[in-house]
Amino acid sequence: MERFTVNGGKALFGCVAVPAAKNAILPILAASLMTDGETVVKNCPDLSDIRVSADIIRAVGSMAAFDGSSFWTVYNESEKSAIPQPLCSKMRSGILYLAPLLYRRGKVTLYYPGGCNIGKRQIDIHLDGLQKMGAQLECGEDKITLLAPDGLKGTHFRLRLPSVGATQTLMMAAATAKGITILHNCAKEPEVVDLARFLRCAGAKITGAGKSEIIIQGVQSLNAVEYTPIADRIFAATVLSGVNACRGMVFLKNYPAEYMHSFEKVLKQTGLRIVHLADGAVAVKIFDRAADIKVHTGFYPAFSTDMGPLLSAALINNNGTLVLTEGIFENRFSYAEQFEKLGLCCKVSGTEYYQTPKNSIYTAQLKAADLRAGAALVVAALAKRGNFTIEGLEYIDRGYEKIEDVFSALGGNIRRNTFEQQQKSKS
Ligand code: EPZ
Repeated sequence: MERFTVNGGKALFGCVAVPAAKNAILPILAASLMTDGETVVKNCPDLSDIRVSADIIRAVGSMAAFDGSSFWTVYNESEKSAIPQPLCSKMRSGILYLAPLLYRRGKVTLYYPGGCNIGKRQIDIHLDGLQKMGAQLECGEDKITLLAPDGLKGTHFRLRLPSVGATQTLMMAAATAKGITILHNCAKEPEVVDLARFLRCAGAKITGAGKSEIIIQGVQSLNAVEYTPIADRIFAATVLSGVNACRGMVFLKNYPAEYMHSFEKVLKQTGLRIVHLADGAVAVKIFDRAADIKVHTGFYPAFSTDMGPLLSAALINNNGTLVLTEGIFENRFSYAEQFEKLGLCCKVSGTEYYQTPKNSIYTAQLKAADLRAGAALVVAALAKRGNFTIEGLEYIDRGYEKIEDVFSALGGNIRRNTFEQQQKSKS
């Protein structure tokens, strides 16, 4: 088992490049199965979820190669239409292969998806929408099968709530369905818009992505594409959170300014200055300004649920209170207990989280329970004076390529210790 050792309390200085967004890349990789010929997705960070995507594409008979930055897919005819259970359990985004496999094979089998344990994470909207487009559903104890041997048909469908994944599934399904599909109450997240952009580059006819209503005229086939997905707003929020909590000055190259308004607005209240430049942004924090902060997370353009844990970490040294109300997932505050170990007073009541400073702690053993909670622990430990260890790196590696290198390059003292190194230092 690997873990981080962190000697916190150092200010951050330097430059960091924001990579392409995991949550934009994963649906695009699924959609690449729908394109004919060789599709290339560029600027991908080397994340475990991206490597699992390559395994899924190969498991269903197509070709995938990933060199740690560019990802190639070449579609192959095959009978394989089931995503093996071990791959489904590794990440939730296996669900994004429903529509591509229905288009390619007329059939898809998926085991109930895994992923971060941040809430119930149902899949009913994906399934209802696909059934409305003509797919037949067969439910087993631990898996589902969808059948559409003659293809899908365009329809009108209103999403029960604006789910990101379900909007992406239905947009992909409609892209090659017969006729016109109109989706109502869609998610407006930038990653939905980016998938639409990718599909349009491949020849799909989609209008309205980023608005509540998306209209799709189905086409017969999609062509190969070379594509660079949008920059990662959650990665950018992680670095801003680090600068706010640790102080210092960092230049973020490829900064996705247009998606950062709500996060920036809150951090500015505690003394962070952000200067937008043509090729990025500079974040500067010289002193802490105490502030009581209240934030509600919700569907875009509201404050992002994924940025909630990062906001908590950003405010670890803030001499005020934070009240964070979660509007999307039921179990987002797994870091509360860990933050207590860092000297905060944290209370969770249903979907409301409260944090305020209590005392100084100089050592603690921390454990990540999901991806963004893990990133929050990294930032919090870097910002607190003392020596800390963090376990649960498998969660953090799902969304960050070597987060320790990102912060070490900025002057943070964080190291990854392998099991062998830990054994050696004991003996
Ligand atoms: C995406 O998850 C992101 N993942 C999540 O990021 C992000 O937290 C989430 O959107 C919300 O912004 C990826 O893009 C890979 P949803 P997704 O479907 O698509 C309910 C991270 O840390 N729902 O919008 O799974 C669901 O239970 C991850 O990078 C249904 O009820 O999220 C949840 O309460 C974590 N039925 C809400 O909708 C459905 O069929 C939003 O989920 C689908 C969803």
